[in-house]
Amino acid sequence: MINQTYLVTGGTTGIGLATAQLLSAEGAKVIVTGRNPATLAAARQQLPAGTVVLRSDSGSLTDAQALGTEVQKHAGRLAGAFLNAGTAQFGPFETMTPQHYDDLFNVNVRGLFFQLQSLLPLLANPSTVVLNASIAAELGFPATSLYSATKAAVVSLGKSLAVELAPRGIRLNTLSPGPIKTPIYAKLGLPAEAQPGFEEHMASQSLFKRFGEPGEVARLARFLLSADSSYIIGENLTIDGGARLT
Ligand SMILES: NC(=O)c1ccc[n+]([C@@H]2O[C@H](COP(=O)([O-])OP(=O)(O)OC[C@H]3O[C@@H](n4cnc5c(N)ncnc54)[C@H](OP(=O)(O)O)[C@@H]3O)[C@@H](O)[C@H]2O)c1
Repeated sequence: MINQTYLVTGGTTGIGLATAQLLSAEGAKVIVTGRNPATLAAARQQLPAGTVVLRSDSGSLTDAQALGTEVQKHAGRLAGAFLNAGTAQFGPFETMTPQHYDDLFNVNVRGLFFQLQSLLPLLANPSTVVLNASIAAELGFPATSLYSATKAAVVSLGKSLAVELAPRGIRLNTLSPGPIKTPIYAKLGLPAEAQPGFEEHMASQSLFKRFGEPGEVARLARFLLSADSSYIIGENLTIDGGARLT
C-alpha cells in the first residue's frame, strides 16, 4: 500500500475515518470525502498531513458524477476505492416519507453507483473496490425498511459489478457490518428518549454483547483493498459479532 493512493468516501467519521487512518498508517496516500463542513474540518485535524479531504455530497448526482474529475486533481491513478459514505434513517413504515426515500436512495445507492462510474478511468489495472453495505440487507428488522432496501441494492451491485469490472483488472467486494459504534446512531432520527435503549439493544444483538469498533471494520476493509485478499472477488463479507445469528 506504500505510496499508493486510495479513496475513502465518507472518510470523515466512523468506519471511513478509521479506514483512512489505517491506510495512512500503512504508508498509503489517502483521499477522503464528506459533506458536513464541521466533520470535514475535524477530519483535516485527525488525518495525517498530505491527506486530501474533499467536500463531495454523495446525495448530489452532480457531485457524484464529478468525483472522478475532483479526485484526478490530486491523483492520476487509484489503487483502490472504499465506497463507504452512507446515511441511515429509521422509523415505522407508515412514517417514512418520499423525502426519506429520496434521501436514503440518493446517498446510499445512486451516489455510490455514479461515484464508481466516474472513478472508472482512474482505477488502475489491477485495483480494488470495496462497497459498504450492512447486515440489514439480508435480515428483517422493524423500522429499517428503506435503509435495508438501499443496502440490499448495494449487495446486489457488488455482485454484478464484480463480474462486469473483473476484465478491467478491478477486483470488487462488499462488506456488511453489524452494529458498529459510530456517530451514525445519533443521526437515525429516533426520539431522544428512545436513543439509549436502541443502542443498548443493538449492542446486545452481538454474541459478544458489545458494539464493534470502527477499527475492526477498517481492518476488514484494508484486507479487501489489499493484495492479501487477491483471490476474493464478488464476495459480501459480514462483520457483525454474530448479530445475524441472534
Ligand atoms: N455503524 C453501523 O452500525 C453500521 C452498520 C452497517 C453498515 N454501516 C454503514 O457503514 C457506512 C459508514 O457509516 P458509519 O457507521 O461509519 O457512520 P458515520 O460515522 O455517520 O459515517 C458516515 C460517513 O459518510 C459520510 N456521509 C454521509 N452522508 C453523506 C453525503 N450525503 N455525502 C458525503 N458524505 C456523506 C459522513 O460524512 P458527513 O459527516 O459529512 O455527513 C461520514 O463521513 C455507512 O454506509 C453505513 O450505512 C454502518
